[in-house]
Amino acid sequence: MPEDGLSLVQHGVSARWIGECQVGLCQFQECLDRDDRQRIGEKWPQARGALDVAHNYALPLTLTIIAEMLGVPPEDKGLLDKWGKVLVRAVDFKRTTAIYEQAIGTSMEIFAYFAALSEAKRAHPGDDLLSQLVHAHDDGQRLSDMELAITATTLLMAGHDTTVNLIGNATLLLLQHPDQLALLRERPALTAAMVEEALRYHSPAQNTSRYTTEAIALGCVTIPQGQLVNVALGSANHDPAAFAEPERFDITRAVPRHLAFGMGMHYCLGAPLARQEASIAIPALFARFPHLRAESWTI
Ligand code: HEM
Repeated sequence: MPEDGLSLVQHGVSARWIGECQVGLCQFQECLDRDDRQRIGEKWPQARGALDVAHNYALPLTLTIIAEMLGVPPEDKGLLDKWGKVLVRAVDFKRTTAIYEQAIGTSMEIFAYFAALSEAKRAHPGDDLLSQLVHAHDDGQRLSDMELAITATTLLMAGHDTTVNLIGNATLLLLQHPDQLALLRERPALTAAMVEEALRYHSPAQNTSRYTTEAIALGCVTIPQGQLVNVALGSANHDPAAFAEPERFDITRAVPRHLAFGMGMHYCLGAPLARQEASIAIPALFARFPHLRAESWTI
């Protein structure tokens, strides 16, 4: 049976590219220390001033990492950002037909872009994920050009907006809960737990979907077999049956088993990468700007 693109990423190269991204993240940390604006973003303030954490900090970081991972030339990063913004609106609850139509047009542009980039990688392979997928494709005829483009697009889409949301949400949560920020400063070893609690509290991806393989009785309704079901992850992560005092933001919560990355065979492929990005970016931000405060409380 032919493997699809995500299986190839999952089985063949995921461990390697996560490792490579780690190198990228370490470099990013160095760039933060040096105030390297070209890499961090033009709007990075020197010492004081306003900073849009999502757009001027988290986005350049996640875009750089995903672009480097895929082997997208740095000068095309702006395109990825533009496309990402259109596509992400199409998975929002408030989507309309017009938004869908725009997203379809954008998808065609992205497919054409990645098809051309794949051709370029075929001629001049690099040490990046797209080159590896092209190689796997050429080797065993396992991925069609369309599958190749769809895989690259999926990684791009899945890989940056969600992580931007995580970094932005976690920053805001810490500013809203100064006791938790003080605790984190006192005990930096709580960083990983803080990221998990932020994922639970304000889940960056609010929903996923599944088809029922059989009729399911849930409460007083029965969902028939073959039905598309929207799963509200953000709501599940505030279920009082699963989390004591779910409305409390507590970075010492014992091993929270949240659903922010989904569950089962479609569990998020980029979870380790997202966790690492957030674990570096959030403490680095508070270290660089010890007196950071929020201009607005809204998400
Ligand atoms: C905070 C950041 C992220 C969150 C909250 C997130 C969340 C999710 C969720 C909820 C799913 C669906 C899981 C399910 O239905 O069971 C998913 C799937 C996926 N994610 Fe992520 N994600 C994040 C970052 C990333 C990154 C950085 C990448 C790649 C670089 C990535 C790649 C994927 C892929 C490829 C899938 C589809 C997996 C499949 O269908 O088998 N994600 N993610």
